[in-house]
Amino acid sequence: MRESDSTGLPGPWLRWRATRELWTAADIGDLSGRAAVVTGSCRGIGAAVAEHLARHGARVIIACSSSAHGRTAAAAVRQKVASAQVDSVVCELAEPTQVRQCADQIISLTAGRLDLLVNNAAVAAVPFARTADGNEMHFAVNHLGHFTLTGHLLPALLNAPQPRVVNVSSILHWLGRCRSDRPHLPRRYHRWRAYFDSKLANLLFTQGLSAWADTHELPLLALSAHPGLVNTTLGSSALHADRRHAEARLLESMQARWHSPSHAAWPLLRAATDANAANGDFYGPGGRWEWSGTPVRVRAAHRALDARAIARLWDLSQQLTRHSFPVSPTQSARKDNPA
Ligand SMILES: NC(=O)c1ccc[n+]([C@@H]2O[C@H](COP(=O)([O-])OP(=O)(O)OC[C@H]3O[C@@H](n4cnc5c(N)ncnc54)[C@H](OP(=O)(O)O)[C@@H]3O)[C@@H](O)[C@H]2O)c1
Repeated sequence: MRESDSTGLPGPWLRWRATRELWTAADIGDLSGRAAVVTGSCRGIGAAVAEHLARHGARVIIACSSSAHGRTAAAAVRQKVASAQVDSVVCELAEPTQVRQCADQIISLTAGRLDLLVNNAAVAAVPFARTADGNEMHFAVNHLGHFTLTGHLLPALLNAPQPRVVNVSSILHWLGRCRSDRPHLPRRYHRWRAYFDSKLANLLFTQGLSAWADTHELPLLALSAHPGLVNTTLGSSALHADRRHAEARLLESMQARWHSPSHAAWPLLRAATDANAANGDFYGPGGRWEWSGTPVRVRAAHRALDARAIARLWDLSQQLTRHSFPVSPTQSARKDNPA
């Protein structure tokens, strides 16, 4: 349903109705000529997103923490989609220097024009660890790494006519908190709480980025999506590595009942491609408790929309990553003069 339809309904109603309509991967449409980067796409949901995008004609860059995994993942996409244009780059999100190098490589591979960035990679339930910069691992990989990558890819994104950034969160963000002014240095550590908090940070970042784009009248859309509950090894592999085998096996027995990565990719793909999407929208599966189902626009926890928390996280992230989003982006990137 588009605003041009003669239903007499006001625009926001039409858009709301459109986001409740049945949507499947077939609605992605033709993505020929568009370039997309998906982080954490050597396995799990990210791999499925990369495959769907390639199937619809996008040129896809798989960003992974290991070059061998990236090459294998790219070959797997080529095997499934004969016409796929796919490359891989190394992007270790815990290492800011690596992230900046990865951004440079992406800019060169895409000739400086990027249409879509899907910030999907994550760690969950890892034992307490700090990055070389001293930041807690969940916060560093799941949020700060993506903040840095997005910041460095901004010039390329702003060279595309309708660029999008999709941050992948979780229904578990409802359990997340902005516990202190120091989310990067928690006083008391709990592995799952650290994951929940990082998934809340993904949503706060989306709101910060969409507000930044709106302030500067940029065509950039920042959106969030969550995949529901998915049969991947997220969390369980970290628990096994930490010798918490009983907890890992319990999680695996639940994961075996959850929906497949290919289907779980749909909310991310809808956020990435739906023409009715607006800045700051959040997509998730429309079934019971948002565990699975066709993607619809979903509600975020109130604390994910808290203006003070959004501003605090934005400032802290700029300070910790030493990357500042420009106060005044170049005139050439403005809506009235798309590149
Ligand atoms: N599975 C679920 O039930 C579920 C539910 C809600 C939300 N989610 C969200 O969905 C997204 C994908 O999860 P998934 O289930 O597909 O997870 P997964 O199968 O464990 O895959 C995680 C991906 O993240 C990458 N990654 C991990 N640490 C990294 C680092 N330091 N630097 C760069 N990449 C790194 C991994 O690549 P390497 O192997 O190269 O490290 C891998 O490709 C995450 O944002 C997660 O929070 C998942």
